[in-house]
Amino acid sequence: MQLKKMMVCLTKRVPMSRGGTRCARPRRRLAASLVALATLSTPPAMAQTAVRIDLAKPGIPVSPTLYGQMTEEINFSYDGGLYAELVRNRAFKDNDGNPEHWSVVQEAGGSAAIAVDQRYPVAGTALPNSLRLDAPNASPGHRVGVANAGYWGIPVKPNTSYRASFYAKINGAGAVPLIVSIEGVDGKTVYAQAEGGRIDGEWKRYSVTLSTAANVKTTSDARLVLATETPGKVWFSQVSLFPPTYKERPNGLRVDLMEKLVDMKPGFLRFPGGNYLEGGSVGTRFKWKETLGPIEQRPGHPGTWGYRSSDGMGLLEFLLWCEDMKAEPVLAVFAGYALNGESVPVGKELEPFVQEALDEIEYVTGDVSTKWGAQRARDGHPAPFKLRYVEIGNEDGFEKDKTYDGRFAQFHDAIKAKYPQIKLISTVGGKDWLSAQQKVSSRVPDLVDEHYYFNVMEMLNEAARYDSYERRGPKVFIGEWAAREGEPTTNLYSALADAAFMAGMERNADVVEMACYAPLLVNVNPGGMQWQSNLIGYDVQSSYGSPSYHAQKMFKHYLGDVSLPLHAEKVSMQSWQRPASKEKPEDLPPAIQVPTMFFSATRSDQRGEIYLKVVNSVGTAQTVQVDLAGAAKVAAEGKAIVLSSSRKEDTNTITEPTKVVPVTSKARGLGKQFSYSFAPYSVTVLVLSAK
Ligand code: AHR
Repeated sequence: MQLKKMMVCLTKRVPMSRGGTRCARPRRRLAASLVALATLSTPPAMAQTAVRIDLAKPGIPVSPTLYGQMTEEINFSYDGGLYAELVRNRAFKDNDGNPEHWSVVQEAGGSAAIAVDQRYPVAGTALPNSLRLDAPNASPGHRVGVANAGYWGIPVKPNTSYRASFYAKINGAGAVPLIVSIEGVDGKTVYAQAEGGRIDGEWKRYSVTLSTAANVKTTSDARLVLATETPGKVWFSQVSLFPPTYKERPNGLRVDLMEKLVDMKPGFLRFPGGNYLEGGSVGTRFKWKETLGPIEQRPGHPGTWGYRSSDGMGLLEFLLWCEDMKAEPVLAVFAGYALNGESVPVGKELEPFVQEALDEIEYVTGDVSTKWGAQRARDGHPAPFKLRYVEIGNEDGFEKDKTYDGRFAQFHDAIKAKYPQIKLISTVGGKDWLSAQQKVSSRVPDLVDEHYYFNVMEMLNEAARYDSYERRGPKVFIGEWAAREGEPTTNLYSALADAAFMAGMERNADVVEMACYAPLLVNVNPGGMQWQSNLIGYDVQSSYGSPSYHAQKMFKHYLGDVSLPLHAEKVSMQSWQRPASKEKPEDLPPAIQVPTMFFSATRSDQRGEIYLKVVNSVGTAQTVQVDLAGAAKVAAEGKAIVLSSSRKEDTNTITEPTKVVPVTSKARGLGKQFSYSFAPYSVTVLVLSAK
């Protein structure tokens, strides 16, 4: 890749833990992507494209975990996203000096003030901060209180029960009744209301159900209000509001997003990052032990994408997410390197971090007789989780001191000694630009993690990269990748390039064991997005899958267990003019030829089906002559699942969530040999019944 020379900061700046900001690292690769926008495509030539699939040959087994998901706290993926909590800054830690996202409610002449107060921590918890309401002249009919408008609104739906909870205390003796409500932001419409309890002078946790009626209108223009009509001071801590969650899990996940994620049928989930694993500094890494147990015991921590994480989405929640998707965890453990460049020296100093990883694996897999297995049982999940893959770090190719080989070896030896069956993934030593910055030579990783963020033409140009890949090395885990056109979620053109790249993975299933697109989630509200190209978009009320999301689903849903040898010829080409480098703007590199069509074929013996996947990346229909060599019988009728649209820029949005979605129809005229016309700008899966 020519990525190295593109180090310009075209990015947003992200905050550093020690103050100041820096360019978001990954955009170095985006910068490389952006330069390729000057793309010229020529209409396909007239020669008839032909594809031969050799059924007589055994083919290559496809890993059942080929397609998975990658996740981290970015773009308000959890807080303000998948994690169903509706209250923003629930523990008043976002800013010690200012109750961000909270406002004061003062009605009919009632006056009040609010402030973050650190004088009265809730004893025995990780809640040092509270919100003080000073309400000297509240009185009947003159309600005062505190309000939170959530993550760009609180979603009100009819016939819905919300669970509100909070810690509260007053000053002095007596008891103050509190009213909890979900109401319009202007306070005029009350959607649900209940008595919150009588608050006295001791910190206590209160909990109440708020139910909306059947005739309530769906809105996001709402807020949660805790109010009183009694004069005095009230302190609040950890104010929480949960709607119904997926599978009704307490502290659970958002239903519509989980349905979309489950629908991808992912083989695995890579978590918790990404940059988010590493942290802005070693001290602010993802400390999994601090993400366990009741939420009031979780201190939360500064994230790596410009906002604080509540850690409501902790290690057990990730594992339950896997369980609910029937996906395997791919657990990334902190490997002693953080985003600010700190790296922990190999040897004695690294030992505590290795132990932290061993403890984490024990938490995931240990039975209840082990220390951390017992902790997991206390946290509510006595049964161990299956864990086959552990990744040591994330993107250590960025490390200037190049110490990964030693760090990997130390983690490797400790983990393999206790868990020889676990496959270890190295973040360096692959063939992408980043992971090639360092090598692991003292130990042999089971897999290497490669990352590819490209624009469409780059991705199309790279779609065959694994056809000529070194076969003798470790297997490849493409731990992050995406074609990146369209924001906040990618468009059809990106989906075509994604599909072309996935076809390459399938053809080379002997090399690529696993792959996961990134990032997975984005809150589309202003300020919600830190990374421009994402798979699933949402606001507080609804969500949608990008065309890339649908391409992912098509590739996973129609995946056989064997990849069939496929030979394509007379594929029409398009000319791609790569722009000059920054260093030599006067030297335009020669234009190169990039295929317009991409193919893969897999077979499921159990289903008696062949899945022929075809990408047509240009705006003209193209006919392909298909030869299923060695097939005994192929049914004349099959199925075609087609993702396409008239413009390559077409996309899905919150307001047009299903503009570009796959359409399934009957495919006729199939056989051992047939010709088929593939729509302009399309991804097609042909499902063939074959023996
Ligand atoms: O996917 C977004 C970011 O890209 C990840 O946090 C990081 O690993 C990569 O650089």
